[in-house]
Amino acid sequence: MQDVTGKVAFITGGASGMGLGMARAFGAAGMKVMIGDIEQEALDSAVADLKERGIDAAGVKVDVADRDSVFGAADATIAAFGKVHVLCNNAGIGVTGKSEKCAMENWQWVMDVNLWGVIYGLQAFVPLIESHGEGGHVMSTASMAGMVSFRYMGPYNATKFAVVTIMETMMEEHREDNLGVSVLCPGVVATNIASGTRNRQERYGGAREARDIDANEEMLGKGLDPDIVGEQVLEAILEDQPYIFTDPNMRKFIIKRNERLMAGYDWSENCAALKKAGL
Ligand SMILES: NC(=O)c1ccc[n+]([C@@H]2O[C@H](COP(=O)([O-])OP(=O)(O)OC[C@H]3O[C@@H](n4cnc5c(N)ncnc54)[C@H](O)[C@@H]3O)[C@@H](O)[C@H]2O)c1
Repeated sequence: MQDVTGKVAFITGGASGMGLGMARAFGAAGMKVMIGDIEQEALDSAVADLKERGIDAAGVKVDVADRDSVFGAADATIAAFGKVHVLCNNAGIGVTGKSEKCAMENWQWVMDVNLWGVIYGLQAFVPLIESHGEGGHVMSTASMAGMVSFRYMGPYNATKFAVVTIMETMMEEHREDNLGVSVLCPGVVATNIASGTRNRQERYGGAREARDIDANEEMLGKGLDPDIVGEQVLEAILEDQPYIFTDPNMRKFIIKRNERLMAGYDWSENCAALKKAGL
């Protein structure tokens, strides 16, 4: 998109962290902003914050893990602003622990919010963006955990790798049309994600105090300002940039993964079984 003035964005997880950063950046650029979030109080204060900044903003309570709720948020966006041009599938939560030991309800929670939430968002909003013919952009928040497999984060990594491949697939599918596609892979950003269990729905065991919250909050507190990430996402939309990375120091992790993949390829090309098959 070359001009976002007057265009409408819908952002999930818009009441906090990077989602709120995106809403502020989009609004400052003259966009109308609908934020969706599961936390009503935070949603209300985020909408108030945006309005105080002179931004044409509204909020809708949504649980991205619930397909009907996401489609309801799409209806609410059209009711409030008439059209939608930009979708940011950004809501997400973190789950840590070894894959084989992670409780089923936590596996289910992280898959439903981080993966199905993105899928529902695409299904509800992409047809609406395509319907008006003015073009638009779809951005989903993955993570560096969608590029490299950090230990003790198997369930989270699984969702973020899945989001990366869905967005990469869409980049190919929309190469020729006027829908831009991006994936955001943040490093450490100073948000409230360490206390994500505050929003765990009853069906996944309910809200509780997060484990290791002090250490995680301290680590996140040293991270990037989420408002900077919001500005980065706006810049990426305007320049139709597919990959958005927030931490230049993490480039080495991707290089190392690629080296390990190539080493695997080298081994495979020289292994006895393939040689026997004449390959
Ligand atoms: N903070 C980081 O260091 C970091 C790094 C990489 C990726 N991410 C990703 O960034 C995205 C944004 O997270 P953040 O760091 O800004 O955290 P945050 O907790 O500050 O914001 C996330 C928002 O999502 C909302 N949310 C949670 N579950 C929801 C649901 N079921 N339906 C609707 N809204 C829901 C929360 O209420 C919250 O407002 C997430 O997808 C996260 O995985 C964060």
